[in-house]
Amino acid sequence: MSLSFQHLTSTKQLSREDTDAILKISGEMEDVLEKGGSDLLADKVLAALFYEPSTRTRLSFETAMHRLGGKVVTAVGMQFSSLYKGETIEDTMNVVGRYADIIVMRHPEQGSADTAASVSPVPFINGGDGPGQHPTQALLDLYTIQKERKKIDDIHITMVGDLKFGRTVHSLSFLLGLYNNLRFTLVSPKELTMPEKVTSFFKEKGIEFTETQDLEQGLDADVIYMTRVQEERFEDKSEFERLKLKYVLEAKHVKGKDITVMHPLPRIGEISEDVDPLPNAAYFRQARNGVPLRMALLAMLLGKA
Ligand code: CP
Repeated sequence: MSLSFQHLTSTKQLSREDTDAILKISGEMEDVLEKGGSDLLADKVLAALFYEPSTRTRLSFETAMHRLGGKVVTAVGMQFSSLYKGETIEDTMNVVGRYADIIVMRHPEQGSADTAASVSPVPFINGGDGPGQHPTQALLDLYTIQKERKKIDDIHITMVGDLKFGRTVHSLSFLLGLYNNLRFTLVSPKELTMPEKVTSFFKEKGIEFTETQDLEQGLDADVIYMTRVQEERFEDKSEFERLKLKYVLEAKHVKGKDITVMHPLPRIGEISEDVDPLPNAAYFRQARNGVPLRMALLAMLLGKA
């Protein structure tokens, strides 16, 4: 199965055929994982360049590559790379693309992924570019919704928290635009509302959405997607402190209801730990879904699926 693109920087470039194929191959990768892995990518090297902190994205990409028999080379932290010495992203890509067969990069600047992809001699994947996009998170979120709800169409999803800087909700919103009869409730403080680039997309696509500051108004959804207020994007730290726990989802909000609770993680208190034992709590399953999803993407971009 092939994809309509060589580099993945944004969910806006994905077609429904792409997502159908990626979800299908991700399901097949579950079988590979059950068997303990394969040697599908035995002759391949992934370069993982993480210039911003990451646990899930970096380690699940690395795990995915290892489970498929491939190898990983890593650069972590801007200060330990030649970007710190003033090297351009373009030069870094031109060099790393001559060492590795595929590259994933996380970088604090929005737009850095497009710059990297524009010159990368090998397939390039955006692992998060500042407040811009995080397409592989959105794909694993999509895969999680399909697994947890048994469908993606006809879903009411409530997104809560830092919708301004939260790249995962931007990417997921664009991706869900490929599906039918979706409804969104967007819960955020007025300082952190969903950017116009997403709300205008909803309007263009005729997607129903409601914006509110009241969490209670979003509790009748099929999926509640909580997000962390992104301290690293605030210049005024007192503003972050004021807003960081404006919304805290507790067990009493979802217990006994048919609501799936998701979060890209890490959380900093916006989901109370009393939610964790409930069947509603899908966020650790969601994080685990990053492995088969990224196995599928690596295999497909390397022409091995
Ligand atoms: N969800 C996510 O991107 O987590 P990390 O920042 O740990 O990679």
